[in-house]
Amino acid sequence: MSIEKEFRPKIVAFCCNWCSYAGADLAGSSRLAYPADVKIIRVPCSCRVNPMFILRAFQKGADGVIMCGCHPGDCHYSTGNYYARRRMTLLFSMLDYIGVENGRTRVEWVSAAEGVKFSTTMNEFVEKIHSLGENVRLEDLRCKN
Ligand code: FES
Repeated sequence: MSIEKEFRPKIVAFCCNWCSYAGADLAGSSRLAYPADVKIIRVPCSCRVNPMFILRAFQKGADGVIMCGCHPGDCHYSTGNYYARRRMTLLFSMLDYIGVENGRTRVEWVSAAEGVKFSTTMNEFVEKIHSLGENVRLEDLRCKN
């Protein structure tokens, strides 16, 4: 008799330092819950997220990757999130081709004052990844130590 383990998705969230990370901080200090499955990686700006980081996260076993940055027009570096948005649009359009379903990636703009939005977004995203299940399509490409 086997005991089935509950699926706990591994979610990587790239958050820019100036808005989204502060939004996550606000969510935490406001005691707004979001799943511990979300692992936040703080980056100086969303444009610091190289598309290879997303692919690497999937290679290493992530079930979903979300990138959060300042709202368009609010980037601390003026235009960083415009570059990031273009890059991610291109990357996401190609991900399905290499075996990562739509829905496993997401871009969201969260300001420092939007703790509720941060929490809601993360809860929705984790629920979505939960419904998609484990990311097995890149399993053979994963680096095993
Ligand atoms: Fe937040 Fe550029 S500093 S997106």
